[in-house]
Amino acid sequence: MSFLQQPINLLVTGGCGFIGSNFIRLLLGDELPQMQVKSLVNLDKLTYAGNLENLVDVADDSRYQFVKGDILDAGLVTRVLKENHIDAVVHFAAESHVDRSILDSSPFVQTNIVGTQTLLDAARVAEVKRFVQVSTDEVYGSLGNEGFFTEQTPLAPNSPYSASKAAADLLVRSYCHTFDFPGIITRCSNNYGPYQFPEKLIPLFISNARNNRSLPVYGDGKNIRDWIHVSDHCKGVAKALWQGKPGEVYNFGGRCELQNIKLTELLLELLDKPKSLIQYVNDRPGHDLRYAIDCKKAETELNWSPEVTFEQGLQETVDWYLEHESWSERILSGEYQKYYQQQYGETLNSD
Ligand code: NAD
Ligand code: DAU
Repeated sequence: MSFLQQPINLLVTGGCGFIGSNFIRLLLGDELPQMQVKSLVNLDKLTYAGNLENLVDVADDSRYQFVKGDILDAGLVTRVLKENHIDAVVHFAAESHVDRSILDSSPFVQTNIVGTQTLLDAARVAEVKRFVQVSTDEVYGSLGNEGFFTEQTPLAPNSPYSASKAAADLLVRSYCHTFDFPGIITRCSNNYGPYQFPEKLIPLFISNARNNRSLPVYGDGKNIRDWIHVSDHCKGVAKALWQGKPGEVYNFGGRCELQNIKLTELLLELLDKPKSLIQYVNDRPGHDLRYAIDCKKAETELNWSPEVTFEQGLQETVDWYLEHESWSERILSGEYQKYYQQQYGETLNSD
């Protein structure tokens, strides 16, 4: 019997962040009965974006173990893989925010590139059976008004963040090619949903609107993103792990392209707030115009497709943030205040 047909010992990196925490909750729940874990170790450094509170509901699951640590710590990573007889790794841990990478790219190079290389070396020695590199559509660069990113689109990253993710993807590719390493790369478009750090567009704008603060729309607001609910992305990653072919790349997208300004107006409508809160601000340097994913390969080969409609997903997301005000407030304290001041030139006091 193939190891994937029996419950596996899984290492998830970055499980205390937005997508990682949703992924762990999905795997420890009963929605995917064919995809069983015997044990799941979550290795996370708990940066500003990592929060143990995101996983309180699974903390007592006997299959679950949290290890606080850095993927750059080769000794620790090697020990975790060995002691837990890890069969497979799903690698989410990263510095994930484009604007921060423009302010300072060094943590992006360290975690996203050197961290991935450290993990790859340890995983190769531990002879894991699968290694899923969770990557992004941003590695493909920017589209004009036409066309879609496919798995064949050449890599052309434009920000320090996307360049660091592309470098990591190329390392995974090279390990597959050189060492017959069982790596799989997934590339997804913009996620939204519960537990997203409120520096990203949707949770930031919900939080600002709720507090009658302005919503800083970059440039003319006409940049387009392809939005996907985080639960659909997580199911895609699980399918790539259990059903994907080593050496392959799979794109995931929501088939939901929207201009930032349209999305901003939709959020204001759902929150019953006036359009006068919109404030056009300086554009993000090097701002990619449009992302749009062709996910036919994942549909055909993984039998995956996005299930959550944007209308339903966005309403539920707005409701979740309104119901979890205290979560957002705790998250927005401390280090984030400094970043907000630097990025937007104002403090976070509500009116
Ligand atoms: P996030 O910023 O919310 O979470 C990142 C997590 O990684 C945090 O828990 C953090 O503590 C942890 N981490 C950071 N550096 C670490 C290190 N050196 N060692 C161990 N842990 C570390 O990110 P996210 O939005 O959940 O994204 C997760 C992954 O998915 C990233 O690799 C990102 O590139 C990719 N991705 C994100 C999106 C999106 O829309 N958010 C879309 C496609 C792909
Ligand atoms: O496409 C996948 C990527 O999506 C992931 O790889 C990244 O980790 C994730 O952060 C996200 O990147 P974006 O840069 O697209 O997401 P962000 O939420 O920062 O911005 C979405 C769009 O909104 C983008 O065009 C910039 C714009 N924006 C963003 C912020 C924070 C604004 O206009 N104002 C803002 O204040």
